[in-house]
Amino acid sequence: MPKHTQFARITHTGPVISVLLTGGIALLILIGNPSRAVGQDHVGQYEQADIEFGVRLYGANCLRCHAETGDAVAGVDLRSGAYNRASSDRELMELLRTGIPGTAMPPNNFSDSELTGLVSYLRTMRDIDLSAVALGDNTRGSVLFTGKGACATCHRVNGLGPRTAPDLSDIGSIRTAATLQRSLLDPTGSMLPINRPVSATLSDGTVINGRRLNEDTYTIQVIDQDERLRSLDKSELRELSALTESPMPPATELLDTEEIADLLAYLLTLKGLE
Ligand code: HEC
Ligand code: HEC
Repeated sequence: MPKHTQFARITHTGPVISVLLTGGIALLILIGNPSRAVGQDHVGQYEQADIEFGVRLYGANCLRCHAETGDAVAGVDLRSGAYNRASSDRELMELLRTGIPGTAMPPNNFSDSELTGLVSYLRTMRDIDLSAVALGDNTRGSVLFTGKGACATCHRVNGLGPRTAPDLSDIGSIRTAATLQRSLLDPTGSMLPINRPVSATLSDGTVINGRRLNEDTYTIQVIDQDERLRSLDKSELRELSALTESPMPPATELLDTEEIADLLAYLLTLKGLE
């Protein structure tokens, strides 16, 4: 069998992808994914968008027992930032998920993104000026998503909309508030490797641009620009590369700060159809 090797390498400021096609054997190597800091405010290690999401969740789930001051339950001072029953953030998340059996502290079915929000708020509770926290309005955000923000021209939610961009039906439970905010403000800088648009050149020279749905050693499945599902045999490709520029415009092109907060509040309500 003739040995046929191709090496396509894409280098840029962020992660490096190397695609090696060797007689049908492909290696996809992802090296280094420096976390980017864009529109990112910190209170210590916690990010503003996560804290604000936590404030909202606290209001809906915790306030009635622990109060705004965090000290309404005897022997518990949430604002102290230190707890009897949990020391690490991971333990605290576990406690919020399981509740405390045998006490009034209830179990909850929080997503990882919600737990990140709650813990970010609990840990910073004593430093936060609540009057300065501006929470978005998810109802307005949902209108912006299909209207002025034009998000629905590329994204699908709960079965509606095109497949050319990632389906956002459960994005609110799989990404944290801070991650989503970065995606909105700087799509290219925060693009995940799996979401990179791909460009495949077939042996006859035809170029297929699309979005990667799946990839294994021998094949790659993409949705092309016409929303057709294509399964490509890697050994028959002349070239396979991933683009590093996001096709998504930053939300600031169409929306102001308040509108982006509304959109973020809406994205955080998307938890998939269950
Ligand atoms: C129905 C009332 C109730 C609700 C709602 C509730 N809690 Fe509690 N929580 C309690 C009680 C009571 C305790 C103390 C249990 C014990 O140790 O005896 C407690 C304990 C805790 C502790 C442990 C404190 C420590 O020092 O170990 C944390 C943290 C906590 N709650 C956070 C929360 C958060 C965050 C929420 C909302 C997601 C919440 N709680 C919702 C009643 C409640
Ligand atoms: C021109 C098409 C297009 C438009 C318009 C667009 N997006 Fe995107 N979006 C994409 C593509 C393609 C990706 C995947 C690549 C990336 O992450 O940048 C993406 C990624 C995302 C992600 C990250 C997904 C993940 O897996 O973490 C979010 C969140 C998002 N878009 C939300 C929005 C919102 C909200 C709007 C409206 C303000 C919008 N997009 C407008 C094409 C678009």
